Amino acid sequence: MQRRGTVTLYTDRLILRRFVIEDAEDMFNNWANDPEVTKFLSWEPHGDIEITKKLLSQWVKSYDNPDTYNWAVVLNDTPIGSVSLLHPDNDKREAEGGYCLSRDYWGKEIMPEAFSAVIKYAFEEVGFRRIYAKHNVQNPNSGKVMLKCGMKYIGTKNAPLALKPDKIVMCDCYEIINPYTI
Ligand SMILES: CC(C)(COP(=O)(O)OP(=O)(O)OC[C@H]1O[C@@H](n2cnc3c(N)ncnc32)[C@H](O)[C@@H]1OP(=O)(O)O)[C@@H](O)C(=O)NCCC(=O)NCCS
Repeated sequence: MQRRGTVTLYTDRLILRRFVIEDAEDMFNNWANDPEVTKFLSWEPHGDIEITKKLLSQWVKSYDNPDTYNWAVVLNDTPIGSVSLLHPDNDKREAEGGYCLSRDYWGKEIMPEAFSAVIKYAFEEVGFRRIYAKHNVQNPNSGKVMLKCGMKYIGTKNAPLALKPDKIVMCDCYEIINPYTI
């Protein structure tokens, strides 16, 4: 494993880069305070930009850890969402994908483009063997993203949400295995 953390990635339309404190206003206005975005997530709309600022300062500090994989999805210089690899396990060489996007940009295959780039980086540059992801069964749009990224459906089960281990919901589970590793 090359524990390379959150390096800048480029796709046809997007730049995926580290968050900075100055992203607070865009993050708050574009997705973090939208109840439609957080409807099936493990956290509530921020309600107050101070919450966004506090979270961003934690995220910025977390980049000191080379096992942090947390990108701002940037379109035309504006942050419009986030994509992350959570719970990286360097022994099992696997991590869990997670993402959210400003409602204004849904349906343009932005997240499949972003998450595919993250999976490619995870496999080719970091050396992960497996990326997995899950979504609330009531949120099939997220499963569409997983399928578009080449993930395979592996089952439906009661599972904790990625950032809230005590919140158990029925989830569809997906995975993708690095074709270059055994
Ligand atoms: C899930 C999410 C990241 C999808 O990103 P995206 O870039 O819109 O992905 P796509 O463009 O591929 O759209 C996925 C599906 O969403 C649905 N969709 C598209 N536009 C939509 C819109 N305006 N409103 C509602 N649903 C829409 C479509 O069914 C689409 O599938 P299709 O292309 O096969 O028809 C985005 O909807 C989101 O951020 N949702 C809230 C946060 C979230 O649920 N995160 C995942 C938690 S597991």
